[in-house]
Amino acid sequence: MDTIKSVNAMQQWVNAAKTAGKTITLVPTMGFLHQGHLSLLDEGRKRGDLLVLSIFVNPTQFGQGEDFEEYPRDLGKDSQLALAAGVDMIFAPDAGEMYPRGYATYVDVEGITTNLCGASRPGHFRGVCTVVNKLFNIIQPDTAIFGNKDFQQLAVIRRMTSDLNLPIDIVGMPIHREADGLAMSSRNVNLSTERRQQALALSQALAQARQLVAAGNTDATAIIAQLKKSINTQPDARIDYIQICHQLTLEDQDSINADSVLLLAVHFGSTRLIDNGFLLG
Ligand code: PAF
Repeated sequence: MDTIKSVNAMQQWVNAAKTAGKTITLVPTMGFLHQGHLSLLDEGRKRGDLLVLSIFVNPTQFGQGEDFEEYPRDLGKDSQLALAAGVDMIFAPDAGEMYPRGYATYVDVEGITTNLCGASRPGHFRGVCTVVNKLFNIIQPDTAIFGNKDFQQLAVIRRMTSDLNLPIDIVGMPIHREADGLAMSSRNVNLSTERRQQALALSQALAQARQLVAAGNTDATAIIAQLKKSINTQPDARIDYIQICHQLTLEDQDSINADSVLLLAVHFGSTRLIDNGFLLG
């Protein structure tokens, strides 16, 4: 396994692979791999001839005052994990390679980007869609695999792929959780022991919501109010949003049905965590 840092070299590698009739699966990441990423790579290994892992902490999807600088990075360790996971090639460009001087083109998806993370992180999905589209153009994957933890991101990428007629199969994989329920995230490493404990409030809120629904509660506003009360008992929790939305439109719902997804974003100090889950079934 090798690591390519330049767009040109990556394109040459892709051309050679395509000429040899190989299919390519891409797992796009920002690195600092955890078990959740490894499950995406495992799935990728099964799906195509060649498995490419991209590692790029994309500056355009971070807003002012967000954690771009603090985002954990460890290319050495990621390379070892990728090798063990059967990755054929790592693409790890730097920011200047992806956004050279004079760069001026961005991809905007309308509609489903306005709610949730789109509302609280203006410009975030513009950055995500731009970089994912660039990765798709450079690597030309047949399949690309993303985690369901970023539920809205996955919906936005599906929309973009369909709208731009990109011939790529987008696969979503289940959330990976620590034994105590915390959804795996590269950002978890930035939590103090105490805040990591408090962060269990997210998965506990999901369980609480499911219990409320199972007990016959269908009023989304009332359920959200109870979850807010529970999460606010954690001293360092600052709720960004707790919403119940339709899984496809990502519009808020008044009452629970089989399409209802609970989505949460909560800050613990400077670390912002997200989680989500269906409420029925
Ligand atoms: O989910 C992520 O890690 C990032 O948003 C992605 C899709 C790699 C784009 O930078």
